[in-house]
Amino acid sequence: MLVNAAEMVKAANEGHYAVGHFNINNLEWTKSCLLEAEAKKAPIILGVSEGAGKYMGGFKTVSAMVHAMVGELGITVPVALHLDHGTYEGCYKCIEAGFTSIMFDGSKYSFEENLEKTKELVNVAHHLGMSIEAEVGAIGENGVSNKGEFADPEECAKIAELGVDFLAAGIGNIHGKYPADWAGLSFETLDAVKKAVKGLPLVLHGGTGIPDEQIQKAISLGVAKINVNTECQLYFQEATRKYIEEGKDLEGKGYDPRKLLLPGAEAIKEIVGIKMDMFGISGKA
Ligand code: 13P
Repeated sequence: MLVNAAEMVKAANEGHYAVGHFNINNLEWTKSCLLEAEAKKAPIILGVSEGAGKYMGGFKTVSAMVHAMVGELGITVPVALHLDHGTYEGCYKCIEAGFTSIMFDGSKYSFEENLEKTKELVNVAHHLGMSIEAEVGAIGENGVSNKGEFADPEECAKIAELGVDFLAAGIGNIHGKYPADWAGLSFETLDAVKKAVKGLPLVLHGGTGIPDEQIQKAISLGVAKINVNTECQLYFQEATRKYIEEGKDLEGKGYDPRKLLLPGAEAIKEIVGIKMDMFGISGKA
């Protein structure tokens, strides 16, 4: 069942656990995420970046694949198909393509323009029954900073007032692998933002590689959606590397993509399951 992500994230916010947002990169990724969500009885958000959408043949292709797969695999847990870090134009493309949720990343605009565009998109998304995530400030990027970015609570409050369903606010988190000298999450910032937005669910981007205790503390302070991408890629890579290094692709029909990509697909299921248990979402569907 495809749904928007508002209800599941609201329930997580109230129940002090977090919904896992897992980025998908291809058909195998999608299947692994859906099957693991069903096995764990966990609602799930499938995140699609603009780059991954293009790679998979366009947002309409992705939407058709996810809608059909949810039906044909008999997935019963709530599934949201969500645009990750969408541009203004990308948001409209995903609305048209049948996504159930969008994120508008207005970090490249001035705050006033971010506010104005977010306001417009909140109205459009809600009119169509979709959920919407907004972003205040930027999220840190690997290689750019070892501290990440820190959202301004006053700006967060202004965006929250527009009626967004959940908000991405930098609290020192970074996309990709964390540098060895990473300063860690700023719980002071998280606390200040959560108070400023009057309890609105917050989103933690850069979920890969954050120590479990920091994740747990972030959830206890009001993070209700956690985004994971790189960690699934690393699990996929390691399992695929092992298969090839062991020469399995050279045995029999080991070159068949259904065999070659299987260890990676299984590894994605494993890490998605680990994350769901850690986020406390398992069994919540
Ligand atoms: P990671 O790749 O660091 O897990 O971050 C994912 C993310 O935040 C997607 O929006």
